[in-house]
Amino acid sequence: MNQDVLNLLNAQIGHEYENYVLYEQASAYFDAKGMDEAAKLFRKQADGELEHARKFTDYVRDAGGKVVIPTIKGQKSEYTSGEDVFLAAFTREQETTAKIYAIRDLAWKSSDHATFEMLTWFVSEQVEEENLTGKLLTVVRGFGEKNLYLIEAYLSHKA
Ligand SMILES: [Fe+2]
Ligand SMILES: [Fe+2]
Repeated sequence: MNQDVLNLLNAQIGHEYENYVLYEQASAYFDAKGMDEAAKLFRKQADGELEHARKFTDYVRDAGGKVVIPTIKGQKSEYTSGEDVFLAAFTREQETTAKIYAIRDLAWKSSDHATFEMLTWFVSEQVEEENLTGKLLTVVRGFGEKNLYLIEAYLSHKA
């Protein structure tokens, strides 16, 4: 595997672990407010991010590359509103999509068909991730911050 592609894949492992941290923090934010449904949703998202990190790790291993997990940066722990948390999640998913596309572009240019193909799963996954977080942000904004707790009913009906 091309060293530049490998570097981006290793960086992505770190990015996915940071997504995990962001979602764990989000889950704790809502748990502290007694919002069990929102806390549960973000916990589930956090679990998904761990799976993403491992998918990248396993791929690097299978492809014979050296796994180098970068330093995991802490994520924002203070939020001024519930809406802010949903906005952070949506924004982060958009950033994640951009990173996946950048790796896939480089894989394509490097004729690294295996990496390009592996990333196809992530392209579809990011459509779902952006759709979910984007929709929730729209709904939370629709309710307004003073009706934040209505998201609990919304989420319990959706599950
Ligand atoms: Fe992810
Ligand atoms: Fe995600």
